[in-house]
Amino acid sequence: MASERKATLIIEGREPVDFDILSPVHGNDCIDIRTLAAKTGLFTYDSGFMSTASCQSKITFIDGDKGELLYRGYPIEQLAEKCNFLEVAYLLKTGELPNPKQKVEFETIIKKHTMIHEQMARFYQGFRRDAHPMAVMVGVVGALSAFYHEAEDFSDAEHRSISFNRIIAKLPTIVAFAYKYSMGEPFMYPRNDLDYTANFMYMMFGTPCEKYEPNPVLVHALDTIFTLHADHEQNASTSTVRLAGSSGANPYACISAGIGCLWGPAHGGANEACLKMLEQIGDVSRVPEFIKRAKDKNDPFRLMGFGHRVYKNFDPRAKLMQKVCSNVLEELGLENDRLFKLAKELERIALEDEYFVEKKLYPNVDYYSGIVQKALGIPTTMFTCIFALARTVGWMAQWEEMITDSEYKIGRPRQLYVGTPRRDVRALAER
Ligand code: SDX
Repeated sequence: MASERKATLIIEGREPVDFDILSPVHGNDCIDIRTLAAKTGLFTYDSGFMSTASCQSKITFIDGDKGELLYRGYPIEQLAEKCNFLEVAYLLKTGELPNPKQKVEFETIIKKHTMIHEQMARFYQGFRRDAHPMAVMVGVVGALSAFYHEAEDFSDAEHRSISFNRIIAKLPTIVAFAYKYSMGEPFMYPRNDLDYTANFMYMMFGTPCEKYEPNPVLVHALDTIFTLHADHEQNASTSTVRLAGSSGANPYACISAGIGCLWGPAHGGANEACLKMLEQIGDVSRVPEFIKRAKDKNDPFRLMGFGHRVYKNFDPRAKLMQKVCSNVLEELGLENDRLFKLAKELERIALEDEYFVEKKLYPNVDYYSGIVQKALGIPTTMFTCIFALARTVGWMAQWEEMITDSEYKIGRPRQLYVGTPRRDVRALAER
């Protein structure tokens, strides 16, 4: 990817050094500094990766200023309206939306892989019933690598495709089983007569005691939530999956690492934290008190579901999520839901406050997702599991892109060492 345009590094007492400027299809130009250390002996310092492009990718593009999110070039608003989650999964995996024949073939393959090995189902017994379901997911998803040895040559496109399909198919079962185990209810095995998201809701809320047919309005809402969470460029958990995969680790172990990273409240755990925050605020009359706390540098409290590293305007997913939330509450006759009304009032007040305006803090994808998931009957502790279920599609697409990149090499950042200078060990008696 040579470039005519150059950035010149001028340091006193040194010869100027040129670096290529790489131009993207969309987004920021990048200075190619891969030869910086070799040419100058210098490293760049960028903790938190505020100004670093860690890879080149064709999968997702975000414009933080415009509030734009594209999956393989398609705007998230159009995908959420015109496609279902499995079509989006196919798009992220292959780069194109499926035609009718491809759609049926892909759905059929996924349906044939939704069961997990019976011995895996016994893994759940090893956890306490009150274990956080994300802890269960880290363990059970990682354990998938103990079961599938016949497709481990990831230089083989067919093996990668089998792994992709397997994990996308099994995640809903693994998540639903984690929920059932926490409730002390029997596992509900997948039904091949149901589509992907309807089957997930059946495995979550069905019981052997009575017929359960998922509400199509609620299924569509959850399917849209999956689409909104499917991928998001090089966020913390995706970067974790890429870095883990760069060592050649198998995809199941990499996805398990991504789940662990997503769990944090600054990342995927924010939807759970946001609902807890709304419960803590309790009433619109207390909103000013919490807005004040969010602005207080001495108070660690942050407005969960607000702010984003990239979006410095609105998060397009938050707008879509608010609409999904409104539809679900209307379907369930909960239009006057206390938390939803509180959330909308909190958003209104925050967006009128100069602190939030100046720091460009807007609701992100997690702000409304907790309210709508709670209305769907999903317990708070499961919110991030739902996020992980959907994001596994993006993680697998990013993992495959990384290992098939001609420039692929193990990720190994350096550091700015600020520790103790070199010294010699003294004999014990002299310490
Ligand atoms: C996700 O990266 C992704 O794409 C992630 C994600 C995805 O799809 O993968 O979009 C999913 O993780 C969404 C974000 C969910 N997290 C939350 O809602 C938690 C609350 N938000 C914050 O923790 C924070 O906004 C982050 C973590 C999201 C972003 O942090 P940054 O980019 O490191 O920004 P920052 O922490 O440096 O904040 C900049 C300023 C700071 O003030 P100053 O130090 O400049 O004075 O804004 C303030 C912060 O104090 N600030 C907030 C705030 N978020 C930032 N103040 C109050 N409440 C907040 N929520």
